[in-house]
Amino acid sequence: MDGEMNVIFVTAIFLLPSTAGAFSAKWDHFTFTQEWPQTACLMGKAEHKKCNIPNYINSFIIHGLWPSSGKTEGPKNCSSVHFDMNKIKNLTNELQHAWPNIYSNTRPDDFWKYEWKTHGTCALSLNTTGTEYLFFRKTLDLMKIYNASMFLSKVNIIPSDTTQYVTKTIESVLQNKLGVMPTLQCYRSEFQSGKRQTNLLAEIRICMTKQFKLIKCPDGDSTLYWNRLSQTQRCYGGKIYIPEIKRK
Ligand SMILES: *[C@@H]1O[C@H](CO)[C@@H](O)[C@H](O)[C@H]1NC(C)=O
Ligand SMILES: *[C@@H]1O[C@H](CO)[C@@H](O)[C@H](O)[C@H]1NC(C)=O
Ligand SMILES: *[C@@H]1O[C@H](CO)[C@@H](O)[C@H](O)[C@H]1NC(C)=O
Ligand SMILES: *[C@@H]1O[C@H](CO)[C@@H](O)[C@H](O)[C@H]1NC(C)=O
Repeated sequence: MDGEMNVIFVTAIFLLPSTAGAFSAKWDHFTFTQEWPQTACLMGKAEHKKCNIPNYINSFIIHGLWPSSGKTEGPKNCSSVHFDMNKIKNLTNELQHAWPNIYSNTRPDDFWKYEWKTHGTCALSLNTTGTEYLFFRKTLDLMKIYNASMFLSKVNIIPSDTTQYVTKTIESVLQNKLGVMPTLQCYRSEFQSGKRQTNLLAEIRICMTKQFKLIKCPDGDSTLYWNRLSQTQRCYGGKIYIPEIKRK
């Protein structure tokens, strides 16, 4: 009798969560990442991607909202729920402003599709991000609150090809506004041909709990999520550029 109960119990465990199981990849916080479009352009150039920053973009844009796991890389490609542009059709305008694909030799919605497949499918386990629509809606809402350009322009930290900024100054401005320390990622490059290589601000990453309460990002996740020719690294100390946006 006992044995039989166990069999039923065990079977139930395997059968019931068969759909939930697809969403059960382990992760413990979100990394909300904003990128500096001009640096992303230069990174794309290293990978032979064409770049075209729309005229209306003058500030940080969303890179993504990534379910993350401690100091290590979060799960990716958690389920086969396909990206469907129709489900976020009524967000298109907002997405184009806050989360544009600046690589013009790819389809405009490729960026959203990639971020959905890689990261969004891992956030399906939460009520708050449990559908494609909710995932994109939530990420757009986070950008409204945590838009780094909003914080930095107020203290006159603006893009410049001639003025460098002290990394620690940028960090403490953001820490002051957010109440937690974000992670700054840099890309080492010459941003004007012939000039020596310097650190360019590439990304600002803000970490939060699954309930969207801000937390300090775990140390040591600096190389997360890059599997690209052009890698970013933590902006350790020193001075960095926020390169001016160049249009075609
Ligand atoms: C996730 O899917 C993408 C696109 O199909 C693929 O390039 C990548 O290797 C996959 N990553 C993992 C960790 O499975
Ligand atoms: C936008 O579309 C989503 C999903 O199709 C829907 O749930 C939501 O209510 C729509 N919002 C508006 C403002 O129309
Ligand atoms: C971020 O803030 C800047 C400066 O205030 C603003 O121009 C830009 O439109 C904002 N971006 C988003 C996506 O809200
Ligand atoms: C998800 O939402 C449902 C309905 O609003 C609620 O009953 C449930 O407790 C929520 N689950 C979590 C994990 O928040």
